[in-house]
Amino acid sequence: MRSFAPSERRENAVEFSIKTLAPERAKTGCLVLGVYQGGALTRAAQLADRAARGALRGALALGDLSGKPGSTLLLRELPGLAAQRVLLVGLGERKDFGEQPLRDAVRGAANALRELGAKDAVVYLGELRAARRSQAWGLRQLVLGLREAFYRFDQLKTQKKPPAPALAAGTLAQGEGPVTLQAQAALKEALATADGAALARTLGNLPPNICTPSYLAEEAKKLARQYKLGLQVLERRDMEKLGMGALISVTRGSHQPPKLIVLRYNGAAKSKKPVVLVGKGITFDTGGISLKPAAEMDEMKYDMSGAASVLGALRALAGMKAPVNAIAVVPTCENMPGGGASRPGDVVTTLSGQTVEILNTDAEGRLILCDALTYTERMQPDVVIDVATLTGACVIALGHVATGMFANDQKLADELLAAGEDAWDRVWQMPLWEDYQEQLRSNFADMANIGGRPAGSVTAACFLSRFTKKLRWAHLDIAGTAWKGGREKGSTARPVPLLVRFVLRHAGAK
Ligand code: BES
Ligand code: MN
Ligand code: ZN
Repeated sequence: MRSFAPSERRENAVEFSIKTLAPERAKTGCLVLGVYQGGALTRAAQLADRAARGALRGALALGDLSGKPGSTLLLRELPGLAAQRVLLVGLGERKDFGEQPLRDAVRGAANALRELGAKDAVVYLGELRAARRSQAWGLRQLVLGLREAFYRFDQLKTQKKPPAPALAAGTLAQGEGPVTLQAQAALKEALATADGAALARTLGNLPPNICTPSYLAEEAKKLARQYKLGLQVLERRDMEKLGMGALISVTRGSHQPPKLIVLRYNGAAKSKKPVVLVGKGITFDTGGISLKPAAEMDEMKYDMSGAASVLGALRALAGMKAPVNAIAVVPTCENMPGGGASRPGDVVTTLSGQTVEILNTDAEGRLILCDALTYTERMQPDVVIDVATLTGACVIALGHVATGMFANDQKLADELLAAGEDAWDRVWQMPLWEDYQEQLRSNFADMANIGGRPAGSVTAACFLSRFTKKLRWAHLDIAGTAWKGGREKGSTARPVPLLVRFVLRHAGAK
């Protein structure tokens, strides 16, 4: 198979601008206007309806739009309007207009624009205010939603379908009033976040024969060049010299060389302690000698989603020139069986000096993370957050909605909860109580790497907590939220929006 250099990756990035524009005067292929259920028009839709001599109300009176959040109706060649088409988007009941209806409306509008093959659009959804949310919040959701809908991953299909419909230009318009500085800032933040999310999504979607540890290191090099970031990549011999026995133990069955990537973005004074984001980068998890069952094993290519998300977050922060210091740390390798692979029963010495009895080689994430977490101590971090598709048990506990969150510092936990609400990329706190620690007892080493079936995500976090005593630390288990299965199979790019929002809020930037 021909090799895919990182530079061959194509991204379908829509560019957006924001301005004040009377809707009837918008010269565009498609004007996008919101309509509440029951036929109430938004302010922009009212203005357009008046100019079109009641044509919008006329269409609604025929009952052609349900008005449910995300429902759409396309109208063509209306009189009195400079636009060629009008896309009406249902917003649901006005009194219920909150986060979810807004997001559904954005998704509905974006999908309709994509189906239409629209080359440009003027969208009046950014001025809508969900209950208890700022306009900036709505704008960020709008930009991320539109960019997600136009994301494509087709570089590995040879039967090139007609060129993917690309919205070349999107104008986020408001009917009246000046565009505020907050709105401009929200747009800039959202565009950079969308770039970071696109990177995370593509890395997640790439197959494991292409997206290897070396590929991730190349990608980090590309980011470093493009955004002038600091980069260090530790090789196997460096890890051995340092004494990262746990990380090394996971790499033994694989022919792919492991890497430990350290990517630094300095947007604030040198004296400001960095936020360190550690991402699990298992580019494929077979389980090792504790081999996983065959069914759906391909999904274990997403086991580097934590790594993808911290690289994506760094790209976003650097892209928006955020006034923060942040470091991404990515331990990355494959978990394979083989003659050299670690065995159940092996005892290894971690970088911290503590010993671990490997009772199950499929609990490998915690083994690579524990050494990476210890390694972050030398960066004198302000806080450390690790992001990992760590446990199937987390999917059972929280499904595909909330990311599991654990922290040894309640202030940090509260900040993550708030950032998750803000980004609508939500986390739910789980306990890290001492009571669970005894499940990790081993007769032969300081601890075992598994704690049995009960509370599997909690004991995984408890394992990590033994390596973060000197840190203000939180752990995000994204096993259920980083990707989707079924027909919609693909990376979700979560938790890039959460990480970006957290770092900005933490620095007091927003
Ligand atoms: N990468 C998996 C966790 C996972 C499972 C993520 C399913 C997404 C979907 C992890 O390395 C793993 O295998 N965990 C084991 C731990 C067990 C052996 C204690 C698990 O969850 O079964
Ligand atoms: Mn595993
Ligand atoms: Zn894994």
